[in-house]
Amino acid sequence: MKTSQDIRRDFIEFFEGKGHTFVRSSPVVPLDDPTLLFTNAGMNQFKPIFLGQAEPAQPRAVNSQKCIRVSGKHNDLEEVGADHYHHTFFEMLGNWSFGDYYKAEAIEWAWELLTGVWGFEKERLWATVHDTDDEAARLWREVTDIAPERILAFGDKENFWEMGATGPCGPCSEIHYYIGEDLGRMKAVGVNAEADYREIWNLVFIQNNRLEDGSLGDLPARHVDTGAGLERIVGVLQKQTSNYSTDLFAPIIEQVAQQTGRAYSVNDSGTPHRVLADHVRMLTFSLADGALPSNEGRGYVVRRILRRAARFGRMLDQHEPFIYKLVDTVVDIMGAAYPEIVERQEHIKKVIQAEEISFGETLDRGLELFTKITAPLSEGDTIPGADAFKLYDTYGFPLDLTELMARERDLEVDSAGFDEAMASQREQARAGGGQAAQQEEVPWTTVKEGTGSEFLGYETTTATGQILKYRIISDKWIDVVLDRTPFYANSGGQVGDTGTLTGGGLELHVMDTNKQVVEGRTEIVHRCHPIKGTIAGPIELEATVDASRRQAIRLNHTATHLMHKALKVVLGDHVHQAGSHVNSDKLRFDLTHYEKVTLEQLTDVERMVNDVIRDNSKVSATEMPFDEAKASGAVAMFGEKYGDRVRVIDVPGFSRELCGGTHVERTGDIGFFKITSESALAAGVRRIEAVTGEGALAYVRRQEALLSELSGELNAPPAQLTGMVRQQRERIKTLEQQLRSAADRSNRDLAGELLAKALQVDGITLLSDRVEVPEMDAFKDLAVAVKRRLESAVVVLGTVLQEKPSLVVAVSDDLSGKIPAGDFIKTVAREINGGGGGSPTLATAGSKDAALLDMAMSRVPDLLAAYLQRTQS
Ligand code: SER
Repeated sequence: MKTSQDIRRDFIEFFEGKGHTFVRSSPVVPLDDPTLLFTNAGMNQFKPIFLGQAEPAQPRAVNSQKCIRVSGKHNDLEEVGADHYHHTFFEMLGNWSFGDYYKAEAIEWAWELLTGVWGFEKERLWATVHDTDDEAARLWREVTDIAPERILAFGDKENFWEMGATGPCGPCSEIHYYIGEDLGRMKAVGVNAEADYREIWNLVFIQNNRLEDGSLGDLPARHVDTGAGLERIVGVLQKQTSNYSTDLFAPIIEQVAQQTGRAYSVNDSGTPHRVLADHVRMLTFSLADGALPSNEGRGYVVRRILRRAARFGRMLDQHEPFIYKLVDTVVDIMGAAYPEIVERQEHIKKVIQAEEISFGETLDRGLELFTKITAPLSEGDTIPGADAFKLYDTYGFPLDLTELMARERDLEVDSAGFDEAMASQREQARAGGGQAAQQEEVPWTTVKEGTGSEFLGYETTTATGQILKYRIISDKWIDVVLDRTPFYANSGGQVGDTGTLTGGGLELHVMDTNKQVVEGRTEIVHRCHPIKGTIAGPIELEATVDASRRQAIRLNHTATHLMHKALKVVLGDHVHQAGSHVNSDKLRFDLTHYEKVTLEQLTDVERMVNDVIRDNSKVSATEMPFDEAKASGAVAMFGEKYGDRVRVIDVPGFSRELCGGTHVERTGDIGFFKITSESALAAGVRRIEAVTGEGALAYVRRQEALLSELSGELNAPPAQLTGMVRQQRERIKTLEQQLRSAADRSNRDLAGELLAKALQVDGITLLSDRVEVPEMDAFKDLAVAVKRRLESAVVVLGTVLQEKPSLVVAVSDDLSGKIPAGDFIKTVAREINGGGGGSPTLATAGSKDAALLDMAMSRVPDLLAAYLQRTQS
């Protein structure tokens, strides 16, 4: 029987045989498409080609794309685990024509591969076409030998494929396969309706573009985008009606069963196993491509999936982290096809484990609350939005998890009420934080048509450029786009340049520079303070970058590369960049690493980087295709993809990294590199900050100034400071001890004096007096000391501390039953208009009225007599 690896390879080789070039899967985290949280189809990476914004490297391509469908237009989450063929993460096999072949070949080759190479039974296959697409229907009859009655037409919902709310789209033709046991029961109405008819391949004829306003435009050329679900094809070829029984999932299911000690079943009771097997694949691949659990956007999707998985783990009685252990099995199955999960295996496990630990702390309590909330509800009832919000806010239950658990009990969740509770919390937070209202989008004024901005800043910091467009945001801010500019726009972690734009009577101070992409053109936007003049018509401007700031940024940026490499050497290959920020003051680097970087390791990193600085190697920048760069050993960040031309920054013999930033000419330019801090950022991610050049010198000077200040205060040379501080600490300890024993002594003396004042009230020894004490503890200690020395007695002391009267009552054990201190003190406290309480042997009370204290103290003997009378009668 063919393995999933064979099947993936069959597909690729088949289309290579038809003139297609193999293309790597793009990452599941699409960093350059704001319309998508996760890659949801093979065509995502080719979107610019379809839109006519990019040239294809070749007219035909074939690939196996990692896809995630848990949010947005394509979302299969609810089906996952409940059925046997929807997944949050799956692989989409695809063949592509970029303005080359069209419907006929797409249909013919799909049929040839399915029936000729893989042996799908022709009499079980169905083809669907869009009901306006007579051409596709005719081609199915002409180029294949499918029985004509098994070609069906459907409307937009089934046969018009769209990627999302906007983007390339077109009519499609789907291929379905009947997996039922009894061919006699197969019928046309089952297609697109029943689970036994599996959609296995979608051939999309991309010819339209869905625009923002909802209308449909035509694309400049016609393309083919096909997507075949690997998991389902493997299911058919391995003769399994459940994808979870194929070699892609079975080992994970087995691992779940083994770890939990709960056997798997293909029916409903196996849902937790299936959900776990599915979700751990999604987690593995999304974390490998740089996603991290968080509270918003993509990170929140990851967190939701993880928490959902953890909750299904509870159904299998797992109360300790265990999902992370399943990652090894995923890597065993998929690592050969996707080496990135092997590379990042340890990181992935650490992140999952840390999330499991943190959610594990609240999950059980949240489940308890859920049970409490739902106990009085019956089928069809609704869980109030406020309760769902409490589960979210206090126990970290994503709304969809609460909804899922509600569904299991035939309950609903008031999601509108949840949204309201969320909105009102946000509102409160905003009111508290005084956040500004969102800025309105200000329209641009075009001065001159152009094709975007050319960046000249790798070679120079001054140049002339024409204004293409501008917009006035307020009398303090204006945005300007030039056709050419030396200003670096904020990207790749490096901040935007600042400087000036002058010419034609105009003077602008550039405070920041950013990039924007408009209709495929990259524009560099200078955000400026207007100083002089106005823009009227086309002007040529002299653009001058603040060169000394830029120079400081260059030092920090190259140093970031050196540190990245040094961290890999010192800590290990699991270290990857999880984020970075480079400005003129310092550099900040976030790395995947799961424990504190020790002082010793930091020192090693620092030493290594400074060695390379002193080598004074020449730093070079070269442009090349991505795949070539990767093959040459360059470190790629999360997110670059095939087809990109990339810039490689090379420090010979040390580091090679893809980067669009500005760098020094020789490493010696950096001068000096100093790490200033190391801290934890998130689970599995550490943050290191460092300074270079003048910044490093300034840092050392600041440290020095601090030291000399200390040295002045302590009146000792720096070298003696540590010994000095240690000595002083010892001395403080001795003094404290002396102070304590002096206080004890004076308490004892006071207690001795007080003893003489004891008197008898109805056969009970009473001592009551007003005393002077420094603070509350001494006050209580004194009462206890007197009580001990009197052996059997009631002691009532009064004092004034910080202008407020206080009372303490201490009663010896033998009397504490008859005259409990906590009770008796209330009668005394009433005399000073106060209240108090305590145990039967020791109680305290207080009030605000110090003037009443003397009177109260003088009444204590009477109060005791009255108390005894009252309680004994
Ligand atoms: N884009 C289509 C789909 O995702 C075919 O690849 O189904």
